[in-house]
Amino acid sequence: MNQFHLFPDQASTGATEIDLIFYVLLGLCLLFSVGIALILAYFAVKYRQTNERVNRAGSSKTNVKLEVAWMVIPLVMALAVFVWGARIYVEVETPPEGALEIYVTAKQWMWKTQHAEGVREINALHVPLGRPIRLTMTSQDVVHSFFVPAFRMKQDVVPGRFTTAWFKATKPGRFRLFCAEYCGTDHSKMGGWITVLEPEEYAEWLASKGGANPILPDIGAVGRQSRGVPNPLAAEGEKVFNRRGCNQCHGANASIQAPPLQGLFGREVKLSDGTTVTADEEYVRESILDPRAKIVSGYQPLMPTYQGQVNSEELVQLVAYLKFLSTALQQPRSAEPPQTESPQ
Ligand code: CUA
Repeated sequence: MNQFHLFPDQASTGATEIDLIFYVLLGLCLLFSVGIALILAYFAVKYRQTNERVNRAGSSKTNVKLEVAWMVIPLVMALAVFVWGARIYVEVETPPEGALEIYVTAKQWMWKTQHAEGVREINALHVPLGRPIRLTMTSQDVVHSFFVPAFRMKQDVVPGRFTTAWFKATKPGRFRLFCAEYCGTDHSKMGGWITVLEPEEYAEWLASKGGANPILPDIGAVGRQSRGVPNPLAAEGEKVFNRRGCNQCHGANASIQAPPLQGLFGREVKLSDGTTVTADEEYVRESILDPRAKIVSGYQPLMPTYQGQVNSEELVQLVAYLKFLSTALQQPRSAEPPQTESPQ
């Protein structure tokens, strides 16, 4: 296709529709502003004070039909654009089930990425074609922003919390990654490349980098987890879990009563104040660093804070371990990616 290249490549599932709504909005704006400007100029000339040929007597003061039309037609157009835009927004914000998990850590001034298979990259990310990729991101210092123009994807990366984003690449190739939030001296150099590979190439690439058990194209890390094998990231998390003594209260044979963590991730949790919260990355992070912020219903606020004791990489590993605990034991020996909305 030799289309007009105003924008970078369209290389993700979201890109086409986001561009389309942009063009439609641009078209509507042009239509109205040019139309109004032309009519304005025409009337200014035609009805100028010195024009003797215009008959100004008997002109009507109101025209109800016309007035209703210029209110209702733009209202319908604006609502249509709103509904369309809201649907795209929901799509962009909701990662599909079974997405490949990638962890991103930003710092001045580099991007560190880590695959569930344990492979780490700096200022680079290799992903398979045609599979949804879910990014869980945090920053070690200031606010950065993960921006891949070819995917029409931009998400702030914030210290002290996890943000998520997802995309599904539709084109193999190399695409630029930028930091889109001014973050200090070398902000403009903080970037890298996203490399989209065919699934088999991706598996080979992972294996060549020493990634254990390269993902199978259709089963992937999540599928393997469902067979009870932790991925290397989760295995690291298990070590942190034992090293920091989490197992002494949350373990199977613990003497102290703490909320069980198996099957926790992705589930709704009842809190002591009567509200519920979804156990996502952010909830887990907060519960480790500030355990008294949300107390699980039926439990005492006994857990000490781990603020300053676990760093952001260990947090990522702990989150991966909890995810493993939640997928591994629910659906043993299943080749299907597990459905997280069916807690036992
Ligand atoms: Cu990081 Cu700008």
